[in-house]
Amino acid sequence: MASAPRHPPSRPLEPWTPDSWRAKPQSQQPAYGDPAAVRRATAALAELPPLVTSFEVERLRSLLAEAQTGARFVLQGGDCAERIEDCKAGPIAQRLKILLQMSLVLTHGLGKPVVRIGRFAGQYAKPRSQAFETRLLDGHEQTLPSYFGDLVNRQPFTAADREPDPKRLLEGYYHAALTLNFVRALVEGGFTDWQQLDRWDLAFLGAAALSPQRKAEYESTKAALAHSLEAGQLARWEDHTQGWQNHFYASHEGLHLEYEQALTRNVPHRRGNYCLSTHLPWIGDRTRSLSGAHVEFFRGIRNPVGVKLGPSATPAEVRSLAEILNPSDEPGKLVFVSRLGAGQVAAHLPTWLEATGDRRILWICDPMHGNTTLSADGFKTRSFDAIIDEFERTREVHERFGRPLGGLHCEVTATDVTECTGGSEGPGEANLRERYETACDPRLNYQQSLELAFRLAHDRRASLTPPA
Ligand code: PEP
Ligand code: CO
Repeated sequence: MASAPRHPPSRPLEPWTPDSWRAKPQSQQPAYGDPAAVRRATAALAELPPLVTSFEVERLRSLLAEAQTGARFVLQGGDCAERIEDCKAGPIAQRLKILLQMSLVLTHGLGKPVVRIGRFAGQYAKPRSQAFETRLLDGHEQTLPSYFGDLVNRQPFTAADREPDPKRLLEGYYHAALTLNFVRALVEGGFTDWQQLDRWDLAFLGAAALSPQRKAEYESTKAALAHSLEAGQLARWEDHTQGWQNHFYASHEGLHLEYEQALTRNVPHRRGNYCLSTHLPWIGDRTRSLSGAHVEFFRGIRNPVGVKLGPSATPAEVRSLAEILNPSDEPGKLVFVSRLGAGQVAAHLPTWLEATGDRRILWICDPMHGNTTLSADGFKTRSFDAIIDEFERTREVHERFGRPLGGLHCEVTATDVTECTGGSEGPGEANLRERYETACDPRLNYQQSLELAFRLAHDRRASLTPPA
């Protein structure tokens, strides 16, 4: 439902069409060798059914509007780069399980229902800092296009694999559809019922590295969680009518504009255009230029839209993004995801909150992307402590401004990888090579993800009273 325009648009809106982005500077778009093949692929996509529906998108928008006021909390998570080869029953079920388990801990700790949004079922396009990658092969330097995600090219370092291939646009669509189909069947079939959730692996609780105080905190969270589950208290917080048990929401970076345009539709009996490749598409930190193609495309779609904001975003830019992407200041429409790095929160976040005043924005913290470092042996990694630190500092700033921090955006996997360091059970830098499997950025493994939820939950519990 549209709100009263508290912030009437300051200038007349330029006309928008699903392809008006083409007239703007485009960054991070693949350099295809055969434009006719791209046209054939997008024409085929445009004939295929959408992956999500406008009903679902509208329902998510109303949940996000509630998160904006502090009544709900959003947990958005999954792989950095989803891989088509992982479109299999086991990995998909595992992704649901870790999101669900984290969300139960958070529901309990925060005392409010959690909206779970997968960073999957289409997270196949990746922006890269460098368009090309050079490696030394047999004593010779070879330069090839970087890996831009499975929607564009393939990861192995060969000329054939790295060539952007328009057929992959259809491959990405089909695999996103297969993933969504299985997720919906799991959700409807009872995979996410409370009773199924006793299969937790809480090995980090017994880790030798855990201090006695932390151990006591975790044990008390675990006991209180078990009690809440048994007493049905979580179910009340969870709110069955709008919670996980009925719905699943997907999100991905809306990077590849040919793909997103092909899945953007006019829906009968509704106003405007919906981007129906996913429920919540977002603009990455590298592509949020005010005059660029991504902001142009995103300003015209009816979906809620996210924007990642890193340290280079000025207060004026952040304000303009809010004005351009949500000119009528609709509730639940705009999600700003801060990803500053723990040490940069204090310098930037307050200036953004000041610049955006009382505009309706759902603020989410991504404590992953600003805390990426390189290990001594050259692995991209992130420290568990820096991740916690960024979230806590972000939460403090929001509290100081009286503006709720409405969610957590994280890169997690339910397997036992060694990509991020730290946590009670986690690897040190020297162990990263053991199971370093990510196709892009380092993810928290299963134990680290659960421990993150335990840590964030613990700090809040003391001040909460359970709902009647
Ligand atoms: C990402 O989410 O994987 C990503 C590339 O993030 P950002 O745009 O914040 O750098
Ligand atoms: Co990433």
